[in-house]
Amino acid sequence: MPTFETKIAKLAEQTTHWTAEEALALLSIPPDPSHGDWSLPCFTLAKKLRKAPKAIAEELAAKFPAPEGFAKTEALNGYWNFYADKKAIIESVLNGIKEKGLKFGFAEPKNKTIVIDYSSPNIGKELAFHHLRSTMIGNSLAKIHKACGCKVERVNHLGDWGTQFGKLIVMYLRENLPADEATLSNLTIQELNRLYSSFSKISKEEPELENKAREAFAKLEKGDEFYRKLWTAFKEATLKELVRIYKIMGVDFDHYTGESFFEDKIPAVIEELEKKNLLENSQERDVVLLDEDTPPCLIRKSDGSTLYATRDLAAALFPKRKFNFYKCLYVVDNGQALHFKQVFAVLGKMGYEFNIHCEHIPFGLILHKNEEGKWEKGKTRTGTASLLRDVIDAASAKILDLINEKNPNLANKEEIATKIGIGAIAFNDLKNRRFMDVKFDWDAALSFEGATGPYVQNAHVRLCSILRKSGKEISQFKSEELLDQNSYDLIKVLSRKGEKINAACENNEPYILAQYSLELAETAHRFIHNNRVIGSAEENSRLFLVYCAQQVLESTLDLLGIAAIREM
Ligand code: ARG
Repeated sequence: MPTFETKIAKLAEQTTHWTAEEALALLSIPPDPSHGDWSLPCFTLAKKLRKAPKAIAEELAAKFPAPEGFAKTEALNGYWNFYADKKAIIESVLNGIKEKGLKFGFAEPKNKTIVIDYSSPNIGKELAFHHLRSTMIGNSLAKIHKACGCKVERVNHLGDWGTQFGKLIVMYLRENLPADEATLSNLTIQELNRLYSSFSKISKEEPELENKAREAFAKLEKGDEFYRKLWTAFKEATLKELVRIYKIMGVDFDHYTGESFFEDKIPAVIEELEKKNLLENSQERDVVLLDEDTPPCLIRKSDGSTLYATRDLAAALFPKRKFNFYKCLYVVDNGQALHFKQVFAVLGKMGYEFNIHCEHIPFGLILHKNEEGKWEKGKTRTGTASLLRDVIDAASAKILDLINEKNPNLANKEEIATKIGIGAIAFNDLKNRRFMDVKFDWDAALSFEGATGPYVQNAHVRLCSILRKSGKEISQFKSEELLDQNSYDLIKVLSRKGEKINAACENNEPYILAQYSLELAETAHRFIHNNRVIGSAEENSRLFLVYCAQQVLESTLDLLGIAAIREM
């Protein structure tokens, strides 16, 4: 069935001024609904037709009758505006949702693979609060690209290689800690954290410790068996905790290919760089020189050990060969912009044109209020809560207190409290353009009012509760019963789902869907407030609409990686 947009595109083609594709790309939704449902700007034709856009739009509106399914078309200030027949819109949207369910607005599968590298924390340390950003933005982008029809490979590029392991090994040995199987398999992330901090403290007084750490890492790189055993234990202890937190957060990966995974693929990369005459020796290190504005990319240190960038080179070639990706996205904070610029530039110098399909997806910082009430990068105010797990626990506990006060008999209340707590923290992050810094304030994030996760989740709960209370099958609707402003507004918002998913996908911006979920929640709350559903004369039609709104909201929350809970 042709959509409203394709009907407009077809008509535009008949005018001979545009191709259907051009018209589709130009088509927009007027911000003021009284200007119609879609709008085709005529400004780009002015030069070609040597006429004012206003006159062109007027001529077109006078000459071409509105396509089927449209009530009228009208010219306004250089725009050709299309007014859909309200009943036709209602039918197309509600039947579309009935047919496609949660997948309404999703694109048809494409034969394209997108690799997304996200979360990717460093092993040996606990997840800090700021790791939330890459984890949640990446998780959401993976879902969004899937909804846009791509095949997605979700990669956790763990920082599991590098001098920091030399540090841990040095501390482990210095403290004479036992290295038997049982002790190693019971190592905890807290213990590793402790070793890490003592290294930092002690090395301030004993700077030679840094050298020892470098030597220890070089020994590890050369394959020393005992050091490998320690390293494996450090890695497993961290992974155990990581996987536990990802599970609570509902975050998943297809590949845990950390930096160490690429270790044996590095010699081939270095050989290739040498063969292509790209390696230069500078200050006893091997580097690839880049353009004037970009510092050289360090490839190998004087002791032969490799660097973060070397591993990222190998890590980019690997998925290209394995998945032949269409795009590879790196969801990493803006602080690493130069690193990615260098890595992509080296790939280009090596002759790999796919480097233009490697994209760094940067994001800003998380800010907290300090004692003077100023926003700064730093700790949350609940003392130790700079660890992600502490923030999640504190948010969940605050919500549980609230549930105990308002709805103490709720089944599975701990689980629901965690889902609201995490939803609140994640939404507070995702509702911003990713490049912006995120202000984290406990009260604002956990509030059930305003632009928050709990507010959106609550709208979903209300929709579910109407469906549950009614207990009726969703059967039929009569479009004439949904013409009132509140119902029609809600239907118009539902109709935009596909367009919002596309925009989020094109810009790699989950915030577009977060803002959409707010708009959806607001219109749904308004509909519920003004239109009685159960027991009304329009019960079947309104119930149908409630069902459709629930489906769209559930799926939108899911695309954000936020649980669409049914009760609270
Ligand atoms: N482990 C790095 C860090 O914590 C992030 C890795 C991002 N991914 C990559 N392919 N470099 O800073």
